[in-house]
Amino acid sequence: MLQGKTILLGVSGGIAVYKAAELVRLFVKAGGSVHVVMTANAQQFVTPLTFQALSNNPVGRDLFSMDSESQISHIQKARMADLVVLAPATANLMAKMAAGIADDYLTTILLATTAPVLVCPAMNVKMWEHPATQRNLKTLCELGYRIEPPASGFLACQEEGAGRLADPGDILESSIGLLTPPTLAGRSVLVSAGPTREHFDPVRFLSNPSSGKMGYALARVAARRSARVFLVSGPCSLAPPPRVERICVTSATQMRDAILNLSSEQDAIVMTAAVSDYRPARTAAHKVKKSPEDLSVLLEPNPDILASLGQIKPPGQVLVGFAAETENITQNAQDKLVRKNLDFIVANDLTREGAGFCSDTNEVKIIGRGGEASDLSLMTKEEVAANIWDRVERILSGGDIESQQ
Ligand code: PMT
Repeated sequence: MLQGKTILLGVSGGIAVYKAAELVRLFVKAGGSVHVVMTANAQQFVTPLTFQALSNNPVGRDLFSMDSESQISHIQKARMADLVVLAPATANLMAKMAAGIADDYLTTILLATTAPVLVCPAMNVKMWEHPATQRNLKTLCELGYRIEPPASGFLACQEEGAGRLADPGDILESSIGLLTPPTLAGRSVLVSAGPTREHFDPVRFLSNPSSGKMGYALARVAARRSARVFLVSGPCSLAPPPRVERICVTSATQMRDAILNLSSEQDAIVMTAAVSDYRPARTAAHKVKKSPEDLSVLLEPNPDILASLGQIKPPGQVLVGFAAETENITQNAQDKLVRKNLDFIVANDLTREGAGFCSDTNEVKIIGRGGEASDLSLMTKEEVAANIWDRVERILSGGDIESQQ
């Protein structure tokens, strides 16, 4: 995700410096080349050696160091960065940036760089809420800096409120977003994900093993491409990706209502949810008691959400379905494509190793309206998602003629 990208991580002096070490690890794991620059105060909290070991690069810390000036100057550092991330960014650093002060290694780089800069503030809640900090924050936004807002919670200073450094995973996600071309900017998309639960009493239900991973990957990748993303999610344990508007539902009818409520304004809808085809005809008000007798539960069909979307599809909207199959994959998927009036369908062979439910990978066949099919090899669900959005983008721009036939 960050392959070939150089991230310059600026670390200023606050208790959250130790979390910046985890951030370096995440950047490196995502394939980025990381160069850390520390202020003098940051070095009071964690030694540069930690960051050097994690990034595998020398740590910049002294503007007048003969070593760093002869090998690689602050101007060179400013030029080499594809992205600058400031984590933690203290109130002092924000104030200097708002005023254009450049009196140490990090702040000189910040004036010299033309790369996007992501500011991740962390400080005491009173310092964060102080009118001077809020004024500086406004100035930084006006100057074009991107802000990863601090989280709320229990702070190191024993106070409660906003000021915790944002989750390193969220900072990574925002960083990837800033480095991803905004090919879905101005577009609104809806993704459904996860299973549905159809209760036959308050504590028992009919469901399936969907983890939500495929749908959440689609939502995450669309948000990185700057789409407005609605994620209608059945019950699952995944956290919503940053900048995604999640609507949580339980049953198929709740999912249908949530989706139909939003569908007319969407440029594209991708249905990955494993919607239960049936639900118990009756739901008991209380837990059904055990008895020696057999128990029969009468099932009735659920509404087919995707088929309804196919009937009311506005002109220009791209509608994508998934087909979870265990036999006659292509034929069954093609039938669903036609019956549900889709632009294309993603056929999932559930019998394949590493494909389908719960895995981080998937192996799918994408079938278009013209019958053309492309087999994607085994890849991560994020890579499958990228392939799907590439195709959606081509149709939206009028470029994918065959799938529109
Ligand atoms: O969540 P994961 O663990 O990552 O697993 C991913 C997945 C296997 C769930 C996903 O890749 C997948 O294949 N999703 C489709 C599951 C499914 O319900 O397939 P289907 O062939 O039964 O349905 C065809 C299409 O109609 C699907 O887009 C489905 O969302 C939709 N549908 C189905 C039934 C129904 N009542 N309403 C619907 O809208």
